[in-house]
Amino acid sequence: MDLQQLTKEFRELFSYGDTEGVRCFFSPGRINLIGEHTDYNGGRVFPCAITYGTYGVAKRRADRRIRLFSKNFPEAGMIEFSLDELNYAPAQTWGNFPKGMIRYIIEAGWGIPAGMDILIEGNIPNGAGLSSSASLEMLIGVVANELFGLEIPRISLVKLGKQVENEFIGVNSGIMDQFAVGMGKKDCGILLDCETLEYEYAPLNLNGCKIIIMNTNKRRELADSKYNERRSQCESALAFLQKVLNIRSLGALTGQQFDAHMHLIPDEILQKRARHAVYENERTIKALAELKKGNLEGFGKLMNASHQSLKEDYEVTGIELDTLVEAAWDQNGTFGARMTGAGFGGCAIALVEACEVDSFIETVGKAYRSKIGYDASFYVAHIGDGTKELTAEVK
Ligand code: GLA
Repeated sequence: MDLQQLTKEFRELFSYGDTEGVRCFFSPGRINLIGEHTDYNGGRVFPCAITYGTYGVAKRRADRRIRLFSKNFPEAGMIEFSLDELNYAPAQTWGNFPKGMIRYIIEAGWGIPAGMDILIEGNIPNGAGLSSSASLEMLIGVVANELFGLEIPRISLVKLGKQVENEFIGVNSGIMDQFAVGMGKKDCGILLDCETLEYEYAPLNLNGCKIIIMNTNKRRELADSKYNERRSQCESALAFLQKVLNIRSLGALTGQQFDAHMHLIPDEILQKRARHAVYENERTIKALAELKKGNLEGFGKLMNASHQSLKEDYEVTGIELDTLVEAAWDQNGTFGARMTGAGFGGCAIALVEACEVDSFIETVGKAYRSKIGYDASFYVAHIGDGTKELTAEVK
């Protein structure tokens, strides 16, 4: 991203004569290595921030207006509102994410004393399930934090971002995305316990392997309603188990304990959903151990088992993700592959030996096109830092 250029465009758009008080920020997207649909079940996740993300150039104003423009949605035009009017407005489309963030920062007691002008440009592939919305929420949180010296702890911004998603937008998602985006660290995965929010950075020593992001380019229609449905199915399964077991979440169970009690869940679909949540949590803990041992084969096998469970038990993959992942499994030099994120389209990831990457992309790409009828896209993931200010790097 050319931040000099973006700064120039910012000054033109908002008519500023110089760069006085103009500051630059970056907020990443994320991939999840393993631990899918476990966050809202009180289990572990293992995501990392990537170097694709959302850039923002911002300056504080003297009055109480917020003006936002995204180069990714020029048709939405300039989005404007006041700090005194922070209600959800359907016509403000993408602007509701920043609006919600600003609203909840204020409601949490961090006074935002003045308005801001912000120009945004992101390079996360659109609608790909790489958390462009969490990236935007955390960007706005960090911009406000830095422009006004609010000193909001990062973990509070993470929780406020989740609140935007849950209460302002209406998606019942867990904490993984905002956590990965806000707390990411270069070349590290984050093993996060979503029940306690205890976390550990794990250096990704991939021994010359690359993480390939494979985008199905399938629109994620209906994703939100299916997502909320999966979540409530897990809650129902948990309620049956709680009649006998003293547990707060499915993440509290081992696979063995689950097997011994799954007869308490009188519905086969609910059993399958819960089984995924429990075993995926176990796989995530094992995956960290394999990574620490440098055993990429072991790590890759757990990735494959994760995908299988998301396909068979959680039923969130679909033909596009399955085609990509199953083609990936057949390639030389591939340790493992799985869908990443919510599913129902979006992206998968694969762990591939560097020297095999070109032939991997060619062969998997061909298999996808011949079965699905349009192209998938491929990107090599680089693991980067969480949301941060870049002003010093521009000047
Ligand atoms: C989406 C949600 C996350 C998480 C994943 C599935 O990305 O935003 O909270 O539940 O799906 O693991």
